[in-house]
Amino acid sequence: MIQLAIEAALAAGKFLKQSVGNIKTVETKFGQETNLVTEIDKKSEELIIGMIRKQYPDHDFLAEESGSHDRRSEYRWIIDPLDGTLNFTHAVPLFSVSIAVEHRGEIIAGVVHEPNLGELFTAEKGKGAFLNQKPIRVSRVNRLIESMIVTGFPYTIRDNPDNAVQHFVNMLMQAQGIRRLGSAAVDLAYVACGRFEGFWEVSLSPWDMAAGVLLVQEAGGRFTDFKGSASSVYGKQVVASNGLIHNMLVDILGRGLSPEAATSRS
Ligand code: IPD
Ligand code: CA
Ligand code: CA
Repeated sequence: MIQLAIEAALAAGKFLKQSVGNIKTVETKFGQETNLVTEIDKKSEELIIGMIRKQYPDHDFLAEESGSHDRRSEYRWIIDPLDGTLNFTHAVPLFSVSIAVEHRGEIIAGVVHEPNLGELFTAEKGKGAFLNQKPIRVSRVNRLIESMIVTGFPYTIRDNPDNAVQHFVNMLMQAQGIRRLGSAAVDLAYVACGRFEGFWEVSLSPWDMAAGVLLVQEAGGRFTDFKGSASSVYGKQVVASNGLIHNMLVDILGRGLSPEAATSRS
């Protein structure tokens, strides 16, 4: 399955790379003016699902553009066919394909591919994480002032969900630097290979994080919700880190929680 995930991610990545600047239709989603989808997102997803279905016609899928295809299989493929659509529509060369395999509720394989840099991140449960086939580990930095932290904003940012703006300001004052790359799957992959010490985001979907979270965990890092509690790819909040600065991130996020959320903290 990991081999198939790799093949599908590489094929979709090649298609995306070729399609930069050739977008014909841009639509908005959920009535949000900044939440875009192009025909390239949809074609990439069709390509990936087509390749997987050929080999595993009975498996389930949860894919961003076509939703859930439930065949009551023990296996579910969780797919973001183009993570970083806004970058893509602006021809900013940083976007990715994210494919994960879930077995009975547990993510067992994950692939994140960034076609412009030719980077392929892979992980299998219990077998470590790799960048272009070389083993990767999270960074050893243990001070926030030496930590480069990455984040992203949901399309609903104007409603300031979960005090997202406040968290950003608080983190900016404590970390060495903050980045916003525009692809959550790449953000997580970069934590896994030690380029970033940590990542947080207030509201992600399973397809944004399923592969990336496994990469972080298999590279020795940690993944929780904003309270520092164990989470799943179906919980929206994400804090992922090298483990060493994790509690510091959770602490800062705790300071930015709304009064109601803060009093219900565990
Ligand atoms: C988005 C990207 C972005 C994150 C957003 C996601 P999309 O996914 O991962 O970095 O901040 O929350 O929705 O729409 O480009 O697939
Ligand atoms: Ca996404
Ligand atoms: Ca997407």
